[in-house]
Amino acid sequence: LRPIHRLLSRPGTVAADVRREEQSSGSVETGSEDQTPKKRFSEVQKERREQAQRTVLIHCPSKISEKKFLKYLSQHGPIHNHFFYESFGLYAVVEFCQKESVASLQSVTRTPGLGTEAAIPFRSRCFSLKLRSPSGQPSEPARVPCNSQSPPSSKKLFELLCYAESIDDQLDTLLKASQLTEENTRLRYLTCSLIEDVAGAYFPDCAVRPFGSSVNSFGKLGCDLDMFLDLDEIGKFSAHKTSGNFLMEFQVKNVPSERIATQKILSVIGECLDQFGPGCVGVQKILNARCPLVRFSHQASGFQCDLTTNNRIALKSSELLYIYGALDSRVRALVFSVRCWARAHSLTSSIPGAWITNFSLTMMVIFFLQRRSPPILPTLDYLENLADAEDKCVIEGHNCTFIRDLNRIKPSENTETLELLLKEFFEYFGNFAFNKNSINIRQGREQNKPESSPLHIQNPFETSLNISKNVTQSQLQKFVDLARESAWILHQQDKDRPSPSGNQPWGLATLLLPSVTNSLSLAKKKRKKPASERIKNLLESIKSSGAEGPSDTNGK
Ligand code: CTP
Ligand code: MG
Repeated sequence: LRPIHRLLSRPGTVAADVRREEQSSGSVETGSEDQTPKKRFSEVQKERREQAQRTVLIHCPSKISEKKFLKYLSQHGPIHNHFFYESFGLYAVVEFCQKESVASLQSVTRTPGLGTEAAIPFRSRCFSLKLRSPSGQPSEPARVPCNSQSPPSSKKLFELLCYAESIDDQLDTLLKASQLTEENTRLRYLTCSLIEDVAGAYFPDCAVRPFGSSVNSFGKLGCDLDMFLDLDEIGKFSAHKTSGNFLMEFQVKNVPSERIATQKILSVIGECLDQFGPGCVGVQKILNARCPLVRFSHQASGFQCDLTTNNRIALKSSELLYIYGALDSRVRALVFSVRCWARAHSLTSSIPGAWITNFSLTMMVIFFLQRRSPPILPTLDYLENLADAEDKCVIEGHNCTFIRDLNRIKPSENTETLELLLKEFFEYFGNFAFNKNSINIRQGREQNKPESSPLHIQNPFETSLNISKNVTQSQLQKFVDLARESAWILHQQDKDRPSPSGNQPWGLATLLLPSVTNSLSLAKKKRKKPASERIKNLLESIKSSGAEGPSDTNGK
């Protein structure tokens, strides 16, 4: 991969000077303005888990009186919160103020006696409400208001972007439109809690915790739900029950390795979800993967779930990303746009394969933000240095220590705009020496690649692992081509500065147009000179003719 010329608005150019003036007048959003103390990851997880344990999921008839419904349920105790949504039918998520209310509701609930099928009498927190005489209900003025659990359609998103006021505003708009909502987050924790009820039949003190994009602040509506079956709490309860001369221990079954233990546990829990888990369908046990998992759909919530166990490091990397996402408001906006751009051009896919993953893209953005001057994000080594004794964490011999109180991390002094950062991101990775360098957020600088995979992104905790080992040279090349082309498009727009208009795609919206990829793949099919090379030549010609670009190129 050959570098293109680094001539896209560098500091010192007129455009950059103008932008700096805009920034000093306070018109750009930076991470430093928000002074409210931010919660630790563990605090959020604890609160959400406890909230989910007081919550039930009710399948409702399509026409229902919200008022009567709530009145009926409040017989079991005061309701703290509720909302309705549509999945396969109408559902209500109802959060009681007290956990006891759930048991009270369960005590008046019966297992349905079905005609031709038989019901397995599993006691869950999923209910189905049947009205005694549907016709007897007075007709409702309107359907209950439903909360959407899906991301906006591409068309809708496109419209929103076209009507935004600036590229910065576009990135912000995209973030706001596609990030997880409060309700969707609650539904995710509730789903984990419902799965915990099933796993709890075998392991009464276990916990099922969400990790990955559901909790690391980079989740998009519609993303999968990664769950971690945590069995570590079980041993802890008995740890201090040692008195006198006798030390009693549980008799347990021993197996040859940790991996076999994980496989056995997941195999049984997978079977249990398949046989008895309300609404768990399409259960697949993928036990031979590097990280064994059980994959299934949770019908009522609509989530595609991946359940793992013995995967504590992934929970720690979710916490790290949560901290990075909270440190500066530009981080999430940039990650969401880059991910959306990658999805629009099929660089990422929901099917596992040779594609770059969202997790890898997030790491690339973090790395890029560590490389800015001054840096927008600190390195992981720096976060480790800030850690105190209580933050110390070693998992399976891997050092996972970093400061967990994000309020103690100094905000960045960098005031670059999102527009500039997006452009520079594409330019940076359009030029990156992927053939020899590895991306490493621990040190925040390029390292020599320890192995020959086309794309090497070091796992921040299991440092011998490459999180993008699956990516092929051709997928990487596609990423580089598109990054170059996108840098070019933004550069051209910068020059021509079309006034934002709702009628025509501009700025970020242009980068999401599928025509860019089509032209690339078409060019390849016809064995023409690849677009990336042509762009490189164009940029070179602009440079040699004193920054006056050919007028008919238009990035194509
Ligand atoms: N993970 C990892 N190494 C990988 C892949 C994943 O450590 N090679 C961990 C990361 O903590 C990641 C989590 O597993 O966040 C879940 O993986 P995945 O679902 O692939 O990524 P998400 O971050 O959840 O992103 P998405 O929205 O695409 O699901
Ligand atoms: Mg995920």
